[in-house]
Parts: sequence; structure tokens; C-alpha cells
Amino acid sequence: MTATLLDGIGLLATQDPSLGEMHDAAVVVEGDAIAWVGAASSAPAADRRVSLDGRAMIPGFVDSHAHLVFAGDRSAEFAARMRGMPYAAGGIQVTVAATRAAPDAVLRHNLERLAGELLRAGVTTFECKSGYGLDVATERRSLSIAREVTPETTFLGAHVVPPDAERDAYLALVCGAMLDACAPYARWVDAFCEQGAFDADETRAVLRAGQAIGLGVRVHANQLRHGPGVQVAVELGAASADHCTYLSPADVDALAASTTVATLLPLVEFSTRSPYPDARRLLDAGVDVALATDCNPGSGYSTSMPLAVALAVRDMHMTPAEAVYAATAGGARALRRDDIGVIAVGKRADLVVLDAPSYVHLAYRPGVPLVAGVWRAGQVVWLVDQLVDPERPLSD
Ligand code: NIG
Ligand code: FE
Repeated sequence: MTATLLDGIGLLATQDPSLGEMHDAAVVVEGDAIAWVGAASSAPAADRRVSLDGRAMIPGFVDSHAHLVFAGDRSAEFAARMRGMPYAAGGIQVTVAATRAAPDAVLRHNLERLAGELLRAGVTTFECKSGYGLDVATERRSLSIAREVTPETTFLGAHVVPPDAERDAYLALVCGAMLDACAPYARWVDAFCEQGAFDADETRAVLRAGQAIGLGVRVHANQLRHGPGVQVAVELGAASADHCTYLSPADVDALAASTTVATLLPLVEFSTRSPYPDARRLLDAGVDVALATDCNPGSGYSTSMPLAVALAVRDMHMTPAEAVYAATAGGARALRRDDIGVIAVGKRADLVVLDAPSYVHLAYRPGVPLVAGVWRAGQVVWLVDQLVDPERPLSD
């Protein structure tokens, strides 16, 4: 197996509690895994060497919440919102109509385009939900297409009740034939627990049906107003309660006492001009926090994890270190993965090189494409011209 030494790392932010942050560090990658981490001065010899010239390195981002299988365009809805229209769950129907009408090739092409954007933004693992089909055939093909690009696929038949369905019949379908058709392609089940989407009992029914056939649980909770979503998520042992924008003291306590991660999605508040979730309150209460993009055509159409980090720091008062942790190790916890999200021996070699001396620059230089190199499972998958050519062995 070829070993590659990455040295000259000005600041290595491992996200591993025992390794912490290191200056003048090096990492050895062997096959798809990290074989060695430590001071550059004591690095072992390797077959190849790449010097990063003082740049910072962090783990690949883990985007634990995204809706990437869809067709159509809702930029007019965004423009209307910027003129003062409020965001409403009903806009989902516009995407549902376009998605149902789209052939597989169109859905696949759009998904691959967005997956490419995520990669160039430093995302090495992403979750992908269905939820824009809302009939058996379109939900099933959405998940089967998503499964081609990620193992972290989520059945979101309970996004909203489609206009052509009767409520009780639709719920029975989601918990029955639709779930059965989708489960072979899904790792997770999710529901949008919100006024205008599904109430607590409906959410429970869907999530329990998914759980009963072996799917893990995640919930769209407390996005647009106070509600029962977080409590239902905790009650069912969900891996993650996502959004968490409107939380009562009891919601914060319930999260703090649970193994459920609070996944915050600041690109949505940015794109809907809504109040940001109170990350400080969650962190200070001891809640596990993740950051994700929620990339979707309605409430926030961005694949930029770096911008999510910048917003979390500027507008949600997370420290840069907390925000980077939430976007890497936090996302891994939200997906219940222990092989990714940290730079440590034995973990998958998912590495991001920033064209900056520190990860603080992610927030200090918002909107600037600082991701200069991405390794996924030990392979270089994205490298800007300024960085060395990985195919060319370097001298010394
Ligand atoms: O996570 N909240 C529900 N679903 C998406 C938005 C869906 C849409 O507007 O198309 C979200 O924000
Ligand atoms: Fe979402």
C-alpha cells in the first residue's frame, strides 16, 4: 500500500479530543485511512510527500442534512421573500410537481452537480433526503438515485401531504407501501414536524414505522415556531433533531439529557431572513451540536459549509473552533458515524486543506473559496492549481 506524507501543515485541527490542535504537523495517509498524525519533525518516511506550505488542515466536512434530489427552480419564491413574503412549507409542492415530472437522468444530473459543489466546498460525506416525490414511484427512485452517491440516505415521505392526497390515506401510505418501497435504499427515516406539515402523533407514527424496519431516526424539528418536534425526537432516540430554531427551556433540557444531536442549519435562516437558532444556549447546556447545509431549492439553496461556519460564528456566537467541530465531528455524530469527522490514526482519510494559515479564516473571510485541497478516503478528489500536483512526486 502506498503511503503519502502530507507535511508542512501550519495548523492541524484534528477534532480528536486527545490530539487537539497541532502546529507544524504532518499526516500520513495509507490506502483509505490515516496511518500517522504528529509533529512534522518526527514524521516517518513515506513513498510520496506533499508539502502544504504552512496551510491549515481540518477533517472533511460532514454535511448531515441535505435535500439534493429534485428538479425545478424556485428563485422567484426567493426573490419574493426578499421583498417581504414569509417562508412557508407550502412551497415544497412546487418542487414536488417538477420532480415527479423529471426523468431519472435529470434528477441524477442535478444531484451530481450539487454533489460536485459539496466536494469543492470541502464536504466529504453528505446525507441526502427524498421528500420531493411524495408518491411511491418518485420517492423510491429519488432514494435509489441518492444511494448511487451516498450511503447516508433518508426517507422523507413525511415532508408534507401532497395536494392530490387525502391526509389519513397519505399517512397510511407513508407508513406502509411507500416505506416498504423506499427502505431498501434508505438508512434513515425523517419527518417534518411542523404546523402545515405533520403534528406530533403523525410524526411519531411515521418514525416508529421506519424504526420498526430498521431505519435510524432524524426529525425536522422546531424550524418555524415552537412545537413538539424536539420532544418527539428525544423520545424516539433520534440521532438528530434538525433546525432547533424555536426551543423552550424544556426542549434544551431534553436535548442535553439525550444522545440526540441538535443540528443547526444557519444557511436556512440566512435565506429566509429568520432569527438564527441560539447555539450558545445549546452549547452552554451541554447539547451536542452539528452544523449542516440543509441545501434544498426552497428554504436555503447553498452547498457552502464554509459559509455555514461563518454564519455560526458571526451570527450564532459559536467560536470558530466550535463551528468547525460542529461541521465535522458534530456532523459525524449526527450520522452516528465514528469513522469520519476527525483526523486520527485509523479514521478514514477525509482531509481538507485550506488556503489559509488557520481555520479561523473560514469565518474571517466569508464567501472566499478557501478550500484548496480535498482528500476523500485517501484519494485526492479536489485540488486547486496553486497546490502541488499530487501525481508528481516531490523532491526531498
Ligand atoms: O429543511 N423544512 C422542511 N424542508 C426543507 C425545505 C423544503 C422546501 O422549502 O422545499 C427544510 O427547510
Ligand atoms: Fe431540511
